[in-house]
Amino acid sequence: MRTVYLNGEFIAENEAKISVFDRGFTFADAIYEVTAVLQGKLLDFDLHVARLRRSLGEMALALPLSDDELLAIHQTLLSRNALQEGLVYLQVSRGVEDRNFAFPAEGTPPTLVLYTQAKNIIASPLAQQGMKIISLPDLRWGRCDIKTTQLLYACLAKEQARQRGADDAWLVKEGLITEGTSNNAFIVTADGAVVTRELSRLLLPGITRSTLITLIHQQGLRIEERGFTLDEVKHAAEAFISSSTSFVYPVVNVDGQPVGDGQPGQLTQRIRQFYIDRALAVTA
Ligand code: PDD
Repeated sequence: MRTVYLNGEFIAENEAKISVFDRGFTFADAIYEVTAVLQGKLLDFDLHVARLRRSLGEMALALPLSDDELLAIHQTLLSRNALQEGLVYLQVSRGVEDRNFAFPAEGTPPTLVLYTQAKNIIASPLAQQGMKIISLPDLRWGRCDIKTTQLLYACLAKEQARQRGADDAWLVKEGLITEGTSNNAFIVTADGAVVTRELSRLLLPGITRSTLITLIHQQGLRIEERGFTLDEVKHAAEAFISSSTSFVYPVVNVDGQPVGDGQPGQLTQRIRQFYIDRALAVTA
């Protein structure tokens, strides 16, 4: 049984209880982070904690713990659960109070939860076979740059993809792809440019995305941060997604049509390998 962290305590997962009045439960008034674990170590914790701070700031949500204290909680969980590969999930909600849309009284403590989840990130079947994607309208709210737990539309979209025999959905707003349900979207054009949507309030600033952009530059490849259409996807040589829990997965089919030759793209596989090599080096 896992040990989880709840409001200052490390306890067995079946003993961790949260109030029915918690604002994370009633209003999704909560933010979260997901940090990958490789070789028993956190990958890019500093970048995740920086994004956490930004999300907290945008929500005016106070968390009275330093970055070092958060790191220590992550590390204790990794060692208590002997996690080698997978992720640490962190969630902060605006705490517990009788249901009221306005914020609770000042000083109401936030609810902080962390737990680990094992996952094979490197030896993953989807990395080998590639993903099938459907497109769906992006009906999410206007602040997708904040990592809130308000993920209902992402769940509905992912389930629709599953029911249609696909692995995920790419979300389309005003003709342009914003991102996947829980990942950033990329294509490789016929002339070899890697394209991903520029950052704005419409999408999450993915940590994996930002590291990939740096790596792609370093490899002397062309990267363009701009919107792209489904028509461009149809004519793309390759496509892929990025996230902390997948790193890079090829996309081989969109809306029933093969991308390129319908196989994981060569450049995509190279980019995944660059990313893994760097991740193994920084967690070694
Ligand atoms: N999701 N876009 C969305 C909507 C996401 O939910 C995520 C991550 C990303 C990729 O961000 P990063 O590279 O920092 O993981 C993009 C996490 C993994 C999740 O919800 O489980």
